[in-house]
Amino acid sequence: MAAITPDSSSRLKPDFIEVVNLIYRDVCNLQPEHKVLIISDARTPDYVVATFHGLAQTIGAEAIRVECRIPKGGATYQPGSHWPSMLAAAALEADLIIDMAVGYATFIIDAINNGARILCPGDGIGGPFMDDVLIRTMLHADIHAIRRHADRIAERFTEATQCTVLTGQDEFTLDVSGLDGESGDGFLWDPDKKEWKAPWSFLPPAQPGVLVPMGLGNGSINVDGTLLYHPDYHEKPDTPVRLTFDRGRLVNIGGDPVLASRLEQWLEDLGDDGAYNGPVHFNIGNNPNALLTQSQEWERVYSSITCGMGDLSMLSRIGGMEAGMALSKSSVHWDWTVLQPKILLDDDVFAENGRIFCDA
Ligand SMILES: [Fe+2]
Repeated sequence: MAAITPDSSSRLKPDFIEVVNLIYRDVCNLQPEHKVLIISDARTPDYVVATFHGLAQTIGAEAIRVECRIPKGGATYQPGSHWPSMLAAAALEADLIIDMAVGYATFIIDAINNGARILCPGDGIGGPFMDDVLIRTMLHADIHAIRRHADRIAERFTEATQCTVLTGQDEFTLDVSGLDGESGDGFLWDPDKKEWKAPWSFLPPAQPGVLVPMGLGNGSINVDGTLLYHPDYHEKPDTPVRLTFDRGRLVNIGGDPVLASRLEQWLEDLGDDGAYNGPVHFNIGNNPNALLTQSQEWERVYSSITCGMGDLSMLSRIGGMEAGMALSKSSVHWDWTVLQPKILLDDDVFAENGRIFCDA
């Protein structure tokens, strides 16, 4: 299994121009009449941002870019971040927002409700090697096969009533009855059906799964993949961190002594009861080229699961999207990943030893 890998970016790669062209054509269905707002910060190389800018103009679209200050604390603290009012005003003019800085924010939700579509090429944050990640996970992978596979996995979740995850001697169960599977494939546009697919998408593809309302999730699970909490370094434990849940609440942290202790301390210091809520989302990676790096591509590592903790309440503000679901509220959103666990959907083995048993 891949370990944390230090990709590095140093110049504009011709292959990246190809990726962004692919993104605009197949993922965004960008048209000449669209207005494109590109949001970035200094974490992302200027030539990456300029490529998104220039290719949007090449298609004939009106495009501008806004660079913000680097948000304090990284992705974990997005639900509590504040953004300039000028940015919110520009977002209300956009048809398409290429977001390489913000992630979850109320002005993004307002823009969606105003008709904009949002694409996050770096999963809602900037990064120094976003180009390397997108070349590897999109240009060098069959993104349409990944998309169709993600659609099928989402259907399996819709059909299932219970999801069970087995790690070591531990069992974790999630009641998924009545939940709709989501493909999480990053596509705003469905190039097969020639119709819009989603108002808000995150690259690279794909991480199909379910959004989880409050009160669900019981048992223990051993986290051996990435842990994203404070401040924005994505950490892989030397030995698994054991998390125990009772009806959608984290009630015990054990396992790896250093990381368990640090996570426990961070949660205590936060003083935010909502940070213990979870899982708030449960997703399975299906990109064969995704690795554990400092990019959130780790959520797409093949046959791994990633669960979110803390806030998901902003989604309930999107018109008609998650109406009626009781979603968790917190000032933070943090995540944990388990690499290649055994997963059951009802009585069927869905994934084991790095393989997913679900045909596209
Ligand atoms: Fe998450």
